[in-house]
Amino acid sequence: MADTRINPSILSADFVNMEADLARIAAADFVHVDVMDNHFVPNLTFGPQMVRRVQETSPVPLDVHLMITDPDRWAPGYAELGAASVTFHLEAAAEPVALARRLRQIGARAGVAVKPATPVEGLYDVLDEFDQILVMTVEPGFGGQSFMADQMPKLARLRDEARRRGSHVWLQVDGGISESTIAQAAEAGADTFVAGSAVFGAADPGRAIEALRAQASAHVH
Ligand code: DX5
Ligand code: ZN
Repeated sequence: MADTRINPSILSADFVNMEADLARIAAADFVHVDVMDNHFVPNLTFGPQMVRRVQETSPVPLDVHLMITDPDRWAPGYAELGAASVTFHLEAAAEPVALARRLRQIGARAGVAVKPATPVEGLYDVLDEFDQILVMTVEPGFGGQSFMADQMPKLARLRDEARRRGSHVWLQVDGGISESTIAQAAEAGADTFVAGSAVFGAADPGRAIEALRAQASAHVH
């Protein structure tokens, strides 16, 4: 069975019952935490104070996804509060490689994310600087949008390039991942899957995680 990870997004959790909702996803590999600043994306969630409490409360390590302007300035703070993984957007970073090095130095996994219209070819020569590349499968900003299958060729090219270079970078997809879309993302090369509405919209989030994991493992290769 291949190595896959299911990271539920708490964007679809109940913000005033966060501790209970974190307990419902204890079977997850990471908790995906969407930080939005109402500037890089047209939506606002929460910042370091909330993420710190989630970090202290969650039994599962955090996978922080920063949809914010000026990550060069703000991303290290999320690594410092103990997030296992910190992903910033390529479109927003002034010096992505320097920032990734800083995140690793603090002790976090360093991730870089690309919006649907952003090409990934520029990352090929610096793959080793990152622990994770996030290929967005919706326009970032909101949960519950439809999966963009047109991102699969980009993901497959990235997977082929990573293999050719012997890279161990994780390839993450985020947006519209459900039991009906996860197989095609796994086939195209994803090994790390974010799912918000598909997990928290289910009657039993734990079972939804297991169902997604089974699908992903069957189709990753
Ligand atoms: C969107 C966020 C996603 C979102 C995914 O900008 O980055 O993590 O929570 O939600 P679903 O799985 O419902 O598309
Ligand atoms: Zn996200």
